Amino acid sequence: MISERYSSDYLIIGSGIAGLTAALRAAEHGTVMVITKRFIEDCNTYSAQGGIACVFDDEDSIESHVQDTLESGAGLCDETVVRSIISDGPKRLRELIDWGVEFSKRSDYADGSDRPDDYDLGKEGGHSYRRVLHTGDTTGKSVLESLKERCLEHSNISIHENRQAVDLIVSRNLDWDGPNRVLGAWVLDRESYATHTYLSKYVILASGGAGKVYLYSSNPDVACGEGIAMAYRAYAEIANMEFYQFHPTILHHPQIKSFLISEALRGEGAVLKSNQHGELVEFMKNYPELGNLATRDVVAQAIDQELKKTGQPCVYIDITHHDEAFLKKRFQSIFSTCLKHGINIAEDLIPVVPAAHYCCGGIRSELNGKTTIENLYAIGEVACTGLHGANRLASNSLLEGLVVANNAIEDSINKLDDIDNSHMDSQIVRDWSVGDAEDPDELVVISHNWDEIRRFMWDYVGIFKTNKRLQRAKTRIRNIRREIEHFYWDFTLTPDLVELRNMASVAEMIIDSALAREENIGLHFNVDNPEGSAETAKKETILRRPGY
Ligand code: SIN
Repeated sequence: MISERYSSDYLIIGSGIAGLTAALRAAEHGTVMVITKRFIEDCNTYSAQGGIACVFDDEDSIESHVQDTLESGAGLCDETVVRSIISDGPKRLRELIDWGVEFSKRSDYADGSDRPDDYDLGKEGGHSYRRVLHTGDTTGKSVLESLKERCLEHSNISIHENRQAVDLIVSRNLDWDGPNRVLGAWVLDRESYATHTYLSKYVILASGGAGKVYLYSSNPDVACGEGIAMAYRAYAEIANMEFYQFHPTILHHPQIKSFLISEALRGEGAVLKSNQHGELVEFMKNYPELGNLATRDVVAQAIDQELKKTGQPCVYIDITHHDEAFLKKRFQSIFSTCLKHGINIAEDLIPVVPAAHYCCGGIRSELNGKTTIENLYAIGEVACTGLHGANRLASNSLLEGLVVANNAIEDSINKLDDIDNSHMDSQIVRDWSVGDAEDPDELVVISHNWDEIRRFMWDYVGIFKTNKRLQRAKTRIRNIRREIEHFYWDFTLTPDLVELRNMASVAEMIIDSALAREENIGLHFNVDNPEGSAETAKKETILRRPGY
């Protein structure tokens, strides 16, 4: 196992919309290395179906999008951040279009429609207008393919696949004087198991969320929360981890895991139904204000209650009022995936359940991605800028990734030439040391702990919590973390071990934050808590590694 050393102006960890946008922008000013855990496409962006929320229609307005976002966030959003990201949206979306992303047009779905050259705008829960730009139901794929193509063409950008960040290199952990600053990262090669040293002027964390902490999730397997865990170990502030968003409608099928049934179906008139003693009932009628298009916290909680009440394994989405020709075109991927598994969505109900989907908390960061560590930026799902508050509005996340990635690079270029980069030229920063580590003889410990965490997070720290369940989860995670620490330092690093350690750390942050929030608001619901409001609930739950 040969360890290598790399240096660049920017080290970007993650290859979703935020990471690749930042790479393209940064490459205009310096050298860029992007590391990604598996392949470029293995990220949440790629599987995004709904699209990007943005004001593109004359009848819509920035103010309306702002108000919908604040409302969905239950009053805990940072209004300045919300206004800024939403106002910058149209400009950034037009750049994305110039970069080659092809969003669906009205003429794609309705022959002879008026204004055929206008973009077809979808609607999702909590939005007052149709404002979601999309490419059918494969928006993330189309965005990522365009960004990837441009990145691969750029001579200033190197992309290293199958490389998994192990830890950030920060001055505080090297006992250097002065404010804590980032110097690079140690990175595991998932094929050779060598740990390399990547040194850089700036590190941009764009590593996405942590859905795999839960047993059921819409996320790809890579989403283990490493960015958040590494930033915590490096003494960054972490905010609002109790606000884990559950998507209400993931396909419930024994042969398919993690397949989303987009909220955009409900935007096209689909309704949720549950089987109550053999009768199909439209239970969202009990939520008269927005019904099937209520915000995600409301719909996921309603479904969870329905499942508990009826004892059924799933609820259903009914979109049979549309004909097959429309559904095949508008929801190409959902149509074909369901059909492959015996469900014709033009005729049959689609069985769905909620699953962990999006981390509304994360590394506390500003509108330009700046974190509490010098030269470290966090962008996209890994960050908590204040846009989402207690519950993210649907399709606001790709927008945030795009806008904040641009802001981060704009902020960074002012200082790029002044950063002290002496750490890159010498052996000041040591290589990762394996010491007396041996190859682990019992890998069952890793898989057992992995399964246990995901199951108790689902059972005890899910949509409905209680004090007792949270305490149980806390006791278990404490024991597991102790066991992992022992394992971690005595045995050679493997991708699974690194992921397990990070997942356990993120799980503990979610539990601690949930215990710390004493009122119910947005996505946080503890049966033992009183109802909170924007006026009474605390704005943020902040965690920081002790000993700073
Ligand atoms: C969806 O298409 O329902 C997901 C969109 C999102 O999570 O923002």
